Amino acid sequence: MATHKQISNICLAFILFFHFYTGTCEVQLNYYSKSCPNAEEIVKQQVIALYHKHGNTAVSWIRTLFHDCMVKSCDASILLESINGIISEKTSKQNMGMRNFKYINTIKDALEEACPMTVSCADIVALSARDGVVMLGGPHMEMKTGRKDSKESHLAEIDALLPNHNDSMTFVLSRFQSVGIDAEGTVALLGAHSVGRVHCVNLVDRLYPDVDPTLDPDYAEYLKRRCPHPEPNPRDVEYSRTDLITPMTLDNMYYKNLINNRGLLIVDQQLLSNPITSPYVKKMAADNDYFHEQFSKALLILSENNPINEDVGEVRKDCRFVNK
Ligand code: HEM
Ligand SMILES: *[C@@H]1O[C@H](CO)[C@@H](O)[C@H](O)[C@H]1NC(C)=O
Repeated sequence: MATHKQISNICLAFILFFHFYTGTCEVQLNYYSKSCPNAEEIVKQQVIALYHKHGNTAVSWIRTLFHDCMVKSCDASILLESINGIISEKTSKQNMGMRNFKYINTIKDALEEACPMTVSCADIVALSARDGVVMLGGPHMEMKTGRKDSKESHLAEIDALLPNHNDSMTFVLSRFQSVGIDAEGTVALLGAHSVGRVHCVNLVDRLYPDVDPTLDPDYAEYLKRRCPHPEPNPRDVEYSRTDLITPMTLDNMYYKNLINNRGLLIVDQQLLSNPITSPYVKKMAADNDYFHEQFSKALLILSENNPINEDVGEVRKDCRFVNK
C-alpha cells in the first residue's frame, strides 16, 4: 500500500506537471511576505493618497479589475499599450471610458523603489481594487497574491466575451458562470455601478427615438438633459452619474434605484426584470451588509480567475510594456 508520503509525492509531481502544461499558478495570502513585506501596505498608502487627489481613481481600480480578470486571466493584460505587435485592449469598444491608468504607474513606481522587479502589475490591479473598495465605503477583503503579468494582450477575447451594456441577462449570467460566479454573485458585482459614470453612447438607445418603457419617466427626462444628442460622437465627454444619491459610495442604493426603475444601463435594469436575478436585487436593496458580503465573495472569485505563473508570465518592470 502506498504511504502518505508517496501519495503526496505523486500529487506534487502531478501538480508540477499540470502547472507546467497550463501555466496556471496558485495564488496565496501574503505571497510577498518574504520578498517584499511592505508590498500590500505600499499599495494601500498609494491608493489612499491617490483617492485624496482624485477620488475617482478608487472607482477606476474596481472597473479595471473586472475588465482585466473577467476575460482569460487576471494578468494585467489590460494595461499593455499598443506597441511591437501588441494591440492594446484599451482600444476595445467595451473598454470605452476607462480612466486613471496613468496612476497605476504611480503605484508601480512606489513598489519598484521598495522592491525592484518583485510585485506584479496583476497584483497591483487586484490589490488596488481591494483598497479602492474600502475608500468608497465598501467591505475590506483578505486577498491572495502571486499573479504574474501576461506577455500579450487579449483584444479579440475582450471584444467577444466581455459583456456589453445591452447584452442579454442570459449571456451575462453565462459569462460570469464561466469564471465561477453564480447569479447571486453577478447581482452583487454589478452593484459596483453604485459608483462612477456612464457616457451617453451607452445610454442613448434607452432614450431615442423612444424612451425605454422600463425607465422611470422623470429619470428619463433627466437623462435626456444629460444626453441631448441621439447619436453622440463616441469621443463625446457627456455622461451621467450612475447613482445620483450616493455617487461615491459603494452601497446598496444601486438596487434601490433599480426597484424605482432608475437603473442606468440595460443590463442594470434587467437584473430586476429577470426572474433568476430579481430576488437577489430585492434582498440587496433591503440589506447593505448582505450586499457587501456577497460583493466581497464574488470579487475575490473574480480576482482569482486563472492566474498565470512564470512559465507563461513575468513581473513587468513598467506595467504598460512587456519586459525586453
Ligand atoms: C454585465 C456586466 C457589466 C457591464 C455590461 C458593464 C458595463 C459598463 C459600462 C458600459 C460602463 C460605463 C462606461 C462609460 O461609459 O464610461 C461601466 C462603468 C463601470 N463599471 Fe461596469 N459593467 C459590468 C459589470 C461591472 C462589474 C462586475 C464591475 C466591478 C466589479 C464594474 C465596474 C464598473 C465601474 C466602477 C464603472 C464606473 C467607471 C468610471 O466611472 O470610470 N462593472 N460599466
Ligand atoms: C448594443 O449597443 C451597441 C452600441 O453601443 C450597438 O452597436 C449594438 O448593435 C447594440 N446591440 C443590440 C443587441 O442592441
